[in-house]
Amino acid sequence: MKFGYFDDQNREYVIQQPNTPLPWINFLGNEKYFGIISNTAGGYSFYQDARLRRITRYRYNNAPLDVGGRYLYIRDNKAASLGQEDYYWSPSWQPVRKDLDQYQCRHGLGYTTILGKKNDLICEGSYFVPLNQDFEVWRFTLKNQRKQPADLSLYSAVEFCLWDAADDQNNFQRNLSIGEVEVEDGVIYHKTEYRERRNHYSYLACSVPIKGFETQREAFLGPYRGWENPLAVEKGTTENSLAHGWQPIGAHHIRLTLQPGESQEVIFILGYQENSRKKKFSDPESQILNKSEAKSKLKMYLNSDYVVNALSELKEYWDDLLGVYQVNTPDPHIDRMVNLWNQYQVMATFNFSRSASYFESGIGRGMGFRDSNQDLLGFVHLIPERARERILDLAGTQKEDGSAYHQYSPLTKRGNDAVGSDFNDDPLWLVLAVAAYLKETEDWPILDNLVPYDNQPGSEKTLFHHLNASINFTLDRLGPHELPLIGRADWNDCLNLNCYSTEPGQSFQTTTNKGGKTAESVFIAGLFILAANEMVKISKFRKDEISVNRYQKAAEKMELSIWEHGWDGEWFKRAYDDAGAPVGSRSCAEGQIFIEPQGFCIMAGLGLRNGKARMALDSVNERLATEHGIVLQQPAYSKYYLNLGEITSYPPGYKENAGIFCHTNPWIMIAEAMLGEGKKALDYYHLINPSVREEFSDLHKCEPYVYAQMIAGRDAATPGEAKNSWLTGTAAWNFLAISQWILGIRPDYDGLIIDPVIPEEWNGFQAVRKFRNVTYKINVSRIGQGDDLKISIDGKPIRGNIIKRVPGDLSEIEVDVSIGSVT
Ligand code: GLC
Ligand code: GLC
Repeated sequence: MKFGYFDDQNREYVIQQPNTPLPWINFLGNEKYFGIISNTAGGYSFYQDARLRRITRYRYNNAPLDVGGRYLYIRDNKAASLGQEDYYWSPSWQPVRKDLDQYQCRHGLGYTTILGKKNDLICEGSYFVPLNQDFEVWRFTLKNQRKQPADLSLYSAVEFCLWDAADDQNNFQRNLSIGEVEVEDGVIYHKTEYRERRNHYSYLACSVPIKGFETQREAFLGPYRGWENPLAVEKGTTENSLAHGWQPIGAHHIRLTLQPGESQEVIFILGYQENSRKKKFSDPESQILNKSEAKSKLKMYLNSDYVVNALSELKEYWDDLLGVYQVNTPDPHIDRMVNLWNQYQVMATFNFSRSASYFESGIGRGMGFRDSNQDLLGFVHLIPERARERILDLAGTQKEDGSAYHQYSPLTKRGNDAVGSDFNDDPLWLVLAVAAYLKETEDWPILDNLVPYDNQPGSEKTLFHHLNASINFTLDRLGPHELPLIGRADWNDCLNLNCYSTEPGQSFQTTTNKGGKTAESVFIAGLFILAANEMVKISKFRKDEISVNRYQKAAEKMELSIWEHGWDGEWFKRAYDDAGAPVGSRSCAEGQIFIEPQGFCIMAGLGLRNGKARMALDSVNERLATEHGIVLQQPAYSKYYLNLGEITSYPPGYKENAGIFCHTNPWIMIAEAMLGEGKKALDYYHLINPSVREEFSDLHKCEPYVYAQMIAGRDAATPGEAKNSWLTGTAAWNFLAISQWILGIRPDYDGLIIDPVIPEEWNGFQAVRKFRNVTYKINVSRIGQGDDLKISIDGKPIRGNIIKRVPGDLSEIEVDVSIGSVT
């Protein structure tokens, strides 16, 4: 069953009924001001940091699931006076949830439009954040389709968060006394804690004159009422309450009369503003907000022309970004994801890491080190300058011994001390991120950029020094089988081999109680080889023969250790536990084979020639592949194993315990593509492709336009049900698998590789790739069976599959690729 459809032309997903299985969300904002918006206008906004600068309040895990948002109420004053039912309602359905005669939500690129119609009144609201602005716009157009005039009241409503979203839900004894607002010229300013250490405020403004307002939540809702039936709306009044403590809100009351056929536009602006410390107050002797910055913005943007223009600028911005990589293949599911949604999701994961989504509360995790490095892999082609900045931020949180804080705060850019380091895979991901950045940009000088360790002034060393520290970090921590020690965990956060946890509530990741000198990870070994191989190539470019040699030797040695101790006979083992016993081996009772080392060892180049890669992938196919994707391991753990940690805490089939952890699936797709098996790779690609899964949205439950972190595996009670959509490494890795490996358009240090491995039944495909200031127009046609390639540029054949220098200074070239051989 579907709840909507893809409007590919307009680059939107259209939702046709409001009660989707879960809130289906979109992200608003581009660089600093962000919001989450659901298909019923639920969600919240924040500035830079979802924890420390939360603008509006949201209660996770609510009932109904999604309450709290950017709400609008429409009250038909005449119907009310006649005592008719349903005289007030919300055009986004929530929070009132009165049946609508028509409903439609369009999630687009950086904007969402929600249309609701009832009793011949139609209201369409567009929500977005203009480029480079610190506010969001809600633009409503209301139309009276009746034959009589409509006498209406509109109410806006948001609930302000007292900035620190964690404290906001905790420290009620203080918080219920500190809320403060000001109202001036109909603009509601939220300024809690401004009198003391804060110098930021938020505001909600409206483009038409208001009849009244409320800023005290209970004055608006009335005692023992919720957002679905506010007393003010029921009565059609407002008392102009000023919040002193309790729960500050922003609610305007507007009266409008619409003649038959008439429409009117009402714009609201919800914004965030910082003042310089010197100019905090309107008069230094007073406690009154200096509102001049907000006012000058409102003067422009409460005005239709600016708003319309800003929305088209936003659309152009996305056109440009997506123009970097566009394809036209025989498969609409590929085109839609590659051209649009997958790239769009990659932007969200780059911006938020795993911090704020419908499943991530925005208060816990900050930016993940491992996560952000991987997110960058899928994002770097879109805005390389931002990738550059991110690399330097990430490297700046690395410690001198090469280790990395597992997470950092996007606001302070400092590592999170509470979680610390010791996830032994972390440092290596930085190498992969830098490699991808260099391949995209050729920005070799970045390697000589000075970056501090642990943000300490005076500790600056070159970025290359940091990369070398990452490699050394692994080499300094090898275990009894000469494989990397795992630390608290590697990529699999839940495989905790050094934390024997018996007490409820202990953290599986940070309650380390084993020496850490025995448990080893075959996964890190594979990741290490991949990273060391990149360092070999990077060092070659730097003509640093000593490093070339060193990294080469280290990689070779690690490979030997894997073959000796990490190969199980038909697949790669996963790890060794604290007792030195293998994990992910035929000799185990449960958890005999894991997906991660198969993907990473093969991506690192292992077994490509000796048949073992094929053997491992066949084992994956036989033991792990299911109709909904490839599960993480088998057999699922049926009980809690003290020596394995959190992975065994999940019920079988969910999350890391044999769920389809989608992030890992593209590793297998890439591995298949490396073996030339395009068809097999594509088959896996389709299993988890959200657009393919749209058909059974009632089972899948999450949004059909973005990847979810997890789909319940075959051991679960609900196989095929997805969770944790949006913020997952799946986005970046799937983009890589399809765009770089299956379609085969892949940046490398010295040029653009074109190496498609498409199925036999495809006639070919076209692609446009902007790369290092040149537009490559690529036309692939199948002339026979097999994967033999012939490439010509502007009609002239070249040797090999890499386009090195583009002749002259052409800004556009035509690349013809024929695939297969005529027999
Ligand atoms: C989550 C984490 C990621 C980890 C994965 C597997 O996605 O954010 O860092 O690799 O789970 O445990
Ligand atoms: C990852 C895992 C999750 C685990 C968490 C701990 O996100 O997916 O299962 O609880 O890491 O940090």
